[in-house]
Amino acid sequence: KKITILVSGSGTNLQRIIDCIEANEIQNAKINLVVADRECFGLERAAKHQIDNVLIPRGKAFSDELDKIIPKDTDLIILAGFLSILKSDFCQKWDKKMINIHPSLLPKFGGKGMWGHHVHEAVIEAKEKESGATVHYVTSGVDEGDIILQGKVALDEKETAESLAQKIHLVEYEIFPKAINKVLNP
Ligand code: GRF
Repeated sequence: KKITILVSGSGTNLQRIIDCIEANEIQNAKINLVVADRECFGLERAAKHQIDNVLIPRGKAFSDELDKIIPKDTDLIILAGFLSILKSDFCQKWDKKMINIHPSLLPKFGGKGMWGHHVHEAVIEAKEKESGATVHYVTSGVDEGDIILQGKVALDEKETAESLAQKIHLVEYEIFPKAINKVLNP
């Protein structure tokens, strides 16, 4: 099955997916394209593994440009630390064929503005005892699609946004490959 991966950042989740495919821990998968919405290390990771990669600058035209270049035989789009919001007609076109990872236990701490450290700061501020990561289908409502898999972490008393982000990344590396396998090979 052919997967296109969208990234905005350092791409450690992208790296994990590449490694799992190479180790056959994610089966039956080939990355046909990596797309970034800004200059980021994710593009370099793709290039290092000879994976086609392209930058489409973020902005209003992003979804339309992506629609033009994405290979027609793509089976699944994976948002792996991707920060732009996709147009709703694009989301409808890829309904049940597009998944995202979000660093909280959705439906808690999701939605617009809940990105990166904002999420972790809000979780700490709310004195939550636990947080985690969620892999879910993408719909036009931000962070609202059906949940595929979640992983939890406990918060320490001295938790900071940085320490929580680190812990949650580790959980992401566990649940993302599992969720991808579940979707690709039901
Ligand atoms: C992850 O924590 C993801 O949940 C969030 O952005 C981060 C991406 O990290 N949306 P990386 O680029 O995969 O290292």
